[in-house]
Amino acid sequence: MKKIAVLTSGGDAPGMNAAIRGVVRCACSRGMEVYGVERGYTGLINGKLNRMDSRSVSDTIQKGGTILKTARCPEFNTEEGLKKGADVLNAYGIDGLVVIGGDGSFRGMRDLSEKYGIVCMGIPGTIDNDLGYTDFTLGFDTAVNTVLDAMNKIRDTMTSHDRACVIEVMGRHCGDIALYSGIAGGAESILVPELPFDIDEICNRMKKNIIKGKISDIIVLAEGVGSCLDVKKDIVEKTGITVRTVKLGYIQRGGTPSMQDRVLAARCADRAVTLLYEGATESRVIGIKENKIIDMPIGEALEIKKTINKEMLEMASRLSH
Ligand code: ADP
Ligand code: F6P
Repeated sequence: MKKIAVLTSGGDAPGMNAAIRGVVRCACSRGMEVYGVERGYTGLINGKLNRMDSRSVSDTIQKGGTILKTARCPEFNTEEGLKKGADVLNAYGIDGLVVIGGDGSFRGMRDLSEKYGIVCMGIPGTIDNDLGYTDFTLGFDTAVNTVLDAMNKIRDTMTSHDRACVIEVMGRHCGDIALYSGIAGGAESILVPELPFDIDEICNRMKKNIIKGKISDIIVLAEGVGSCLDVKKDIVEKTGITVRTVKLGYIQRGGTPSMQDRVLAARCADRAVTLLYEGATESRVIGIKENKIIDMPIGEALEIKKTINKEMLEMASRLSH
């Protein structure tokens, strides 16, 4: 395979630039031609492709966001949109497409590949860590570290005032950001969208914590569970405890990628390009399992449901005793 394109799609994630760089450099080092597609599937449909070389990705490894820009493109979800995308790739003579994105982006890639025979490689890029086939996605580690940094600061002020705080983190369907930041930050409670929670249990635990001498109480709440303001209101009504709220929002999506995310990006990019270089004939996604880079057919990967790690949640409860 000689000519490939790369795009980023869906929510941006730290490490996407490191992945673009990896794709461009690994491909150029093998004499392949690389095109960068602007703004995900929107740019693909509109023919926004630019030739890239090793120097196009200089000084990008440490940058958050995505130099190719990203978009959510409803048109790509239609027969017409997919055909436009395939026509553009064929017009450029592109033999393979690397898609860096999450579940939605991978569904688009699967359709493009099944309906128009375009060979694609998916690199998992989303802070949510919501793909079932891989242990980790690009951006997750950085996002959790950003949450931890905020949590440490919030803990300082909450402790000084004997207050509780509900910290709302990202994750509409997947509680991994809440789970990992909650464990690493020593949260007293972790609420995730995958499991129901009992507000009375939380309130009882908070009251017991005060008796036990805990002077601040941090509740990490994934956005998919509900609003931090609603949870605060319930706790105040039921306990009278002073509670503050912080919604961390988009700071979780930005920032310089961690070592973990940069190395994962490099390893995934190298595998994706190697598969294309060696003449892959089916579309696959790249991931990491037990610290080994894996790849599997896109259809198979999308069938694997992401689940929350209940053992880790139970452990978190013991650790907050
Ligand atoms: P993420 O990739 O981060 O999960 P989204 O769910 O927003 O982000 O999806 C990104 C884009 O992928 C969508 O705007 C759309 O262009 C495309 N997409 C999502 N689902 C499909 C689908 N089933 N078929 C074709 N394209 C899709
Ligand atoms: O998928 C990543 C994510 O950051 C989610 O955690 C969040 O719910 C969503 O994207 C926010 O999307 P938008 O950019 O449309 O506000």
